[in-house]
Amino acid sequence: MEIKETLESLKSTTLVKIEQATTLDELNTIRVSTLGKKGSMTEVLRGMKDLSPEMRPVVGSLANEVRDTLTEALEAKKEMLETKAMNEALLNETIDVTLPGKELNNGTPHILTQVMEEIEDVFLGLGYEIIEGYEVEKDYYNFERMNLPKDHPARDMQDTFYITEDMLLRTHTSPVQARTMEKHDFTKAPLRMISPGKVYRRDSDDATHSHQFHQIEGLVIDENITMADLKGTLEVLLKKLFGEDRKLRLRPSYFPFTEPSVEVDISCFKCGGKGCNVCKHTGWIEILGAGIVHPSVLEMSGVDSEKYSGFAFGLGPDRVAMLKYGVNDIRNFYQNDIRFLEQFKVKG
Ligand code: PHE
Repeated sequence: MEIKETLESLKSTTLVKIEQATTLDELNTIRVSTLGKKGSMTEVLRGMKDLSPEMRPVVGSLANEVRDTLTEALEAKKEMLETKAMNEALLNETIDVTLPGKELNNGTPHILTQVMEEIEDVFLGLGYEIIEGYEVEKDYYNFERMNLPKDHPARDMQDTFYITEDMLLRTHTSPVQARTMEKHDFTKAPLRMISPGKVYRRDSDDATHSHQFHQIEGLVIDENITMADLKGTLEVLLKKLFGEDRKLRLRPSYFPFTEPSVEVDISCFKCGGKGCNVCKHTGWIEILGAGIVHPSVLEMSGVDSEKYSGFAFGLGPDRVAMLKYGVNDIRNFYQNDIRFLEQFKVKG
């Protein structure tokens, strides 16, 4: 009889413990200490072998009943505690929508990107295409097709970083002229393009020079294009960039790929032409190189120089940005000091 009572009392005390358990850990401890391999229930059942054969089935079915009851009670309580834990977690994780938001630290396009996009916008408005060139270029396109054969002395000014005998980091965006002209079908439409990008030169790195900088190449080819078209186009651009009162001045210059060639100056936007530190007391600021495309450059690209003519220019956005924003050291653009860059944040 004794074993039956032990089972009954084990059942009732364990049920009370289960009832009182408040955590899943506690519940697990109860399960292991009762139904586990070394648990009290297992211990009691070990005593079965001493029972008389008549008593064994009676105690056996009672033991099954106790085990099932306890297992069920444990399961039910476990489910309850899990639901409770989940509800608590959900409550704790509730988002308080009345809290003030965290400030997001937005980035901004680099000042040079901003200036280049401003220039691109002007030309898109004039119906130009934007064409990408290659930063690693063939000597052939960078120099020869620009009318600078191997022994040409003007190569010295732009000597650069060679990758092989025939490949180099382009020294200017002008090779894009040749690459675009040779593909263009002039019987269908005139060519109007700009090509912005990085260029490289073996150069002294000082406040106004860098071995890497940017250019925007411009090229227009059609019948009857003259210097007047060049001047008018640049006037639109430079007035947009530096103010409606700007005047333009063209000075004779030399580039192997244009003839005639010019340097283009604008009247100083700071002093209006009287003379100041920005214009080095001349009243004028040199802003770009340009000219009428040399007939040989046209012919080398398969363009009939009797029928077509064109103008080209090469503009330095670094220089435009320096002038426009009073930056006196070009190296600021490339050092990525956040304190410098953040001054040109686009408000958005
Ligand atoms: N490629 C010239 C330079 O880098 C600039 C230029 C472009 C001049 C087109 C005339 C015409 O100096």
